[in-house]
Amino acid sequence: MQMPQIPQPTYYIFKCEQSSPPGMPKPSCVNADTQGLFNHIGMSLMQKGLMGPVQLIRTSCLARCQQGPVMVVAGQNERFMYANLTTEKIDRILEEHIKGGVPVAEYLIPEQFWGEPQKLN
Ligand code: FES
Repeated sequence: MQMPQIPQPTYYIFKCEQSSPPGMPKPSCVNADTQGLFNHIGMSLMQKGLMGPVQLIRTSCLARCQQGPVMVVAGQNERFMYANLTTEKIDRILEEHIKGGVPVAEYLIPEQFWGEPQKLN
């Protein structure tokens, strides 16, 4: 008996959902002002009929806390990190990058914060 193939998502969106306790000096991606962003992404994907081709995943810290809120959009052979997210930026990213296939360059994390992959020893 042959097993049915499971379709792959076209994109994964990894959204940092780390929240630091009040009083922590280090910023985190989720606070009172940004706590709705994950649900905004999910609702927008559903409204656009993209849930399935796009898989939305909650992550812990992605080590770019100073530029948060951040998320990584990963396609078949590419990955992009978006920084300082707002609902307006997310709407544009979903429309232009996810639906249109063209990353929104002005929202990408600056190059100095997203360098080459570290070498494995
Ligand atoms: S808390 Fe989001 S990158 Fe660190």
